[in-house]
Amino acid sequence: MSSEIKNVEYGLEKIFEGAQDFLPLLGTDYVEFYVGNAKQSAHFYKTAFGFQSLAYAGLETGMRDRTSYVLAQGKIRLVLTTPLTSESPIAEHIKKHGDGVKIIALWVEDATKSFEETVKRGAKPFMEPTRESDEHGEVVRSGIYTYGETVHLFVERKNYKGTFLPGFKTWESPYNPEPVGLKFIDHMVGNVGWGEMNTWVKWYEDVMGFVNFLSFDDKQIHTEYSALMSKVMSNGNGRIKFPINEPAEGKKRSQIEEYLDFYEGSGVQHIAVATDDIISTVTALRARGVEFLSAPPHAYYEEIPARLGAHMSMMKEDINVLEKLAILVDADEEGYLLQIFTKPVEDRPTLFFEIIQRMGAKGFGAGNFKALFESIEREQALRGTL
Ligand code: FE2
Repeated sequence: MSSEIKNVEYGLEKIFEGAQDFLPLLGTDYVEFYVGNAKQSAHFYKTAFGFQSLAYAGLETGMRDRTSYVLAQGKIRLVLTTPLTSESPIAEHIKKHGDGVKIIALWVEDATKSFEETVKRGAKPFMEPTRESDEHGEVVRSGIYTYGETVHLFVERKNYKGTFLPGFKTWESPYNPEPVGLKFIDHMVGNVGWGEMNTWVKWYEDVMGFVNFLSFDDKQIHTEYSALMSKVMSNGNGRIKFPINEPAEGKKRSQIEEYLDFYEGSGVQHIAVATDDIISTVTALRARGVEFLSAPPHAYYEEIPARLGAHMSMMKEDINVLEKLAILVDADEEGYLLQIFTKPVEDRPTLFFEIIQRMGAKGFGAGNFKALFESIEREQALRGTL
């Protein structure tokens, strides 16, 4: 199936030539989850995923309405936040959606200008530019709503030298399981409702200055039972990539519909994190109890040399090891990639993680979509939600 994306324009520099980027993004700053019990979630992400303790805010630091734990691995920062009272809007969010991603924070030079430029273009404000400071300096943050109740915060930290943000203290913990080699966020995918994908594609184009650089329709992404559509949005320098999925009509209920039913609306479906050694990362994650989707049939692995073609000669990984770990392989014109998907990390079948190692390929594993969705459908059948 990877041949179907061959004609797509990958050259983002070319697309952006001459255009002025009104929203320069330096990278992902952090991802904040609203969760029912941040203390226990933090323990899970340390133990299972190898995140390291970084910062803390709560009653002890003067925060009265919530507790937040900040974890780091490579360039990835996760913030896990729990409300301390039932009146908190955070509690309402958890009541409706369960645990999930509330904030995708983006690192910018100028949070005030980022807010003005996006709101001017139609963004719904979440937080006016707000200055916070402590003895380590000053941070300016602002925010806008994207799909569902999800938010993009703009974080300007050029005048700040503290561990995370004002109001947080360094979190020193005697319990520090080893990292598993997660380096940075490769992409984050949003699921949106029926007929809404193009609305959000246009929103990212108009409001954020992103471009749609890859598209997959329901003819390309389907199994016997279900289908979906997906469009990949990228910012100007290619550091931020947000694919957007929408369900499509099929014989049975697709995983996107299942997500929308259980999250009760649009939201973040998965966070893809990059490693440069997926075999050691996945081996470590499995040993720590992280659950992954099951492997495709053996025939899938027998077909890998044919699918990789010329890239097969540069492949260092042993296919038998990949099969044992259930790691998937895909290729495009520029190289190949290795990827694997966890099962949902909450009891509601909503958010999951992807582990990805890129060996030149810039796609998203389109050649694996069918195998992947069939694997998810086996899980859905067990849940009675197919
Ligand atoms: Fe992905």
